[in-house]
This record gives sequence, C-alpha cells and structure tokens, in this order.
Amino acid sequence: MMRCVLVTGGAGFIGSCFVRRLLDEPGDRTVVNLDALTYAGNLANLASVAQDPRYRFVKGDITDRALVASLFEQYSFDKVVNFAAESHVDRSIREPEIFLRTNVLGTQCLLDCARDAWMIGRDSDGYPRYREGVRFVQISTDEVYGALGATGLFTEDTPLSPNSPYSVSKASADMLARAYYTTFRLPVCVTRCSNNYGPFQFPEKLIPLMIGNALEDKPLPVYGDGMQVRDWIHVDDHCSAVQAVIERGRPGEVYNIGGSSEKANLEIVRTILDALGKPETLIRHVKDRLGHDRRYAIDNAKITGELGWTPRYTFDQGMSETIAWYLVNKDWLDGVRSGAYLSYYSEYYGDRT
Ligand code: NAD
Ligand code: TYD
Repeated sequence: MMRCVLVTGGAGFIGSCFVRRLLDEPGDRTVVNLDALTYAGNLANLASVAQDPRYRFVKGDITDRALVASLFEQYSFDKVVNFAAESHVDRSIREPEIFLRTNVLGTQCLLDCARDAWMIGRDSDGYPRYREGVRFVQISTDEVYGALGATGLFTEDTPLSPNSPYSVSKASADMLARAYYTTFRLPVCVTRCSNNYGPFQFPEKLIPLMIGNALEDKPLPVYGDGMQVRDWIHVDDHCSAVQAVIERGRPGEVYNIGGSSEKANLEIVRTILDALGKPETLIRHVKDRLGHDRRYAIDNAKITGELGWTPRYTFDQGMSETIAWYLVNKDWLDGVRSGAYLSYYSEYYGDRT
C-alpha cells in the first residue's frame, strides 16, 4: 500500500512519468513532488495532473534539510522515491561540483530525514525500528558499473567502477543508501536502470536531441565512431519496475532494470532519420566524449524472476511511438529548445560540429 509518496525530481523526465503513472491509478494516495526546477525540471511535464487534488508540488532543493524535515512533519510519507539528480554526463565533465552536491549530499539529506521521521524506537542492539510499511527507493543507474567490453552483462554483483563525475556521484549515493540499510536498517531499495527514452526527455540527451535537430535539418553530432552501445528502455517500463520495487522489493536489495535492447548510437540515429524521412548526410562525427563508456548491458534476471516485472514495450514500438510523440508535441520541444538551451548548445557543440 502506498498512501503518501514523496517523489523528488518529479518535474524531470522520469520523475514526471512516475508521478503521472501514480495519479493515473484510482485511490486517494497523495503524491508530493519536491523539485528544485533546475534547467531540467519543467512543470509542463505535469500539466495533465496539476489540478488533481491528490497532487502537491513543492519547489525546493533536496539538500535543504529544514525544508525536507518539515515536509516529513507535514505529510505522513510511507514511501520516498528519489529521482532528483543532476543527470547529464557531459555537464558533469564540465561542472562536477553540482553533481556531488545534489546527487550525494541531497541523497544523504533525504536518507537522514526519512530515518528520523520513520523511527519509532530502537532494538536491544541499538538499531532503529521503523513504522510499518515504509520504504525508500534510491534511483541509481547502470552507469555505476562502468563500461563493458564487447560481451557480458551487468548483474547486481558486478563491482562498481564508475568512470564519469556523474556516475561517481550516482555510485556514491547508491552506496550511501546501502550503508543506511546496513548501519541504520532503514528499509532502502536501490534500482540501477539503463538508458531511458520516451516523451518529455530533455533534449540534451541523445534521442530527443537527434529528433529535434533532424526536424530542423541541423547536423546530428555523433560522438567518435558512434559504435558505443547502450541498453534502451521505455521510461514507462522503468517506472513500472520502480513501482514493483516499492511494492515487492526486499529491503537492502539492489535491482537492475533494463529493456534488453542493446543498440549502437549510430543505429539509433539512423532509426530516427529513417522515421523522419531525413537524409544520413545530416550525421556529423564529432570529437568524442572524454572517458566515454563503450558499452552498457543489463542482466534483468533478478527483477523479472523475483518481482515478476517485465517490460511492456519492444524497442521498435517504443521508439516509433516516441518519435511520433515529439512530432505531435513539437511545441513542447520548441519550448525547451529555446532560451538557456540555445546558449548551452552553442557553447557545448560550437567547437565540435
Ligand atoms: P532529469 O535531469 O530529466 O530530471 C532531474 C529532475 O531533478 C529535474 O526536474 C530537476 O529540476 C530535479 N532536481 C535537480 N537537482 C535538484 C535538487 N537539488 N533538488 C530537487 N530537485 C532537483 O533526469 P531524469 O533523466 O529524469 O533522471 C531521473 C533519475 O533517474 C536521476 O536520478 C538519474 O540519475 C536516474 N537515471 C536516469 C536514466 C536516464 O536514462 N535518463 C537512467 C538511469 C537512471
Ligand atoms: P546520453 O543520452 O547523454 O546518455 P548516457 O551518456 O548517460 O548514456 O548519451 C547516450 C549515448 O549517445 C552516449 O554514448 C553518448 C552519445 N551521444 C552522442 O553521440 N551525441 C550526443 O550529442 C549526445 C548527447 C550523446
């Protein structure tokens, strides 16, 4: 049972999908969305639920301890799902500090506040005891495992070996969540998902960036040889997996989530060009990302076997629906591809393309 859920980062790509999903279900569950509305947060992603009386939006930072503690006092949260993060690898290479602040210290603040609010006493060894049914889900990433060679899959037992400031910050938060389970017995689960795609993704990420550029006949900047491989999953399948973990995950456990769809970046870019009827001459091979991980691939066996979760989308169906969504919602794309995005784009890609 989820009665009152704190979703952090609910105005971003994945968090907003999760909020919409929770409110799509009948019942009187309250969903509180705490989001700082950074460049990546966008309330337009939540227009469909904004008037729902079960939904509350709080603009604020997950590192703001007084605010987070006051929310725990005001609402009797039984679940916390921490999506809030700085999420873009390229930005972390340029400005690592904010990644450590939000992703690590923000997670620590949430874990502390959850522990303090949910604790109802201690056992004879001094470990905290908690209110029945509470659960903290830390949204981590498959990038914490580092890069794979041509073969093999990440399992939950693969040693962590993060390579970018982003993935290091996510690995730190992931380990911190694990430590709060071991040290304080806080009922925490960690999910490590692969690359998401779908509606409302900020167009700094591969798929919406390429769709946006192709629609405007602009060059498509492919890093290096474009043969880097990612496992792709539809955002809605990621969110259904997170729900399965909240409801049935075992405290202290890590669950990998993936779509079993390994694709090289060039293949993704060609799929987009083909679907939009645009020529491959738009492809530009540009300078590679520093420390670029060559391949990620996920072994799903634990979450499918233990929690009975399976993805609903095939890659082909998910991608064609996604491309169609960006076409129909060109206004949304144009809205986020204006203003600050334009200066980011010219600053970042200016000397590459
Ligand atoms: P996103 O960048 O689209 O959204 C992040 C959201 O967090 C934004 O709404 C932003 O305003 C908010 N936020 C940032 N800093 C904050 C702070 N200090 N306090 C409160 N809110 C803050 O990211 P996303 O792609 O939706 O990713 C969500 C989560 O999933 C992240 O934790 C990310 O690491 C993880 N993840 C993402 C992917 C992916 O493919 N996008 C894959 C695996 C895991
Ligand atoms: P991205 O969407 O940034 O996700 P991540 O780095 O977290 O996997 O990038 C996905 C892949 O696409 C990654 O291998 C980098 C590559 N890429 C490009 O080739 N060009 C681009 O302009 C971007 C943004 C990414």
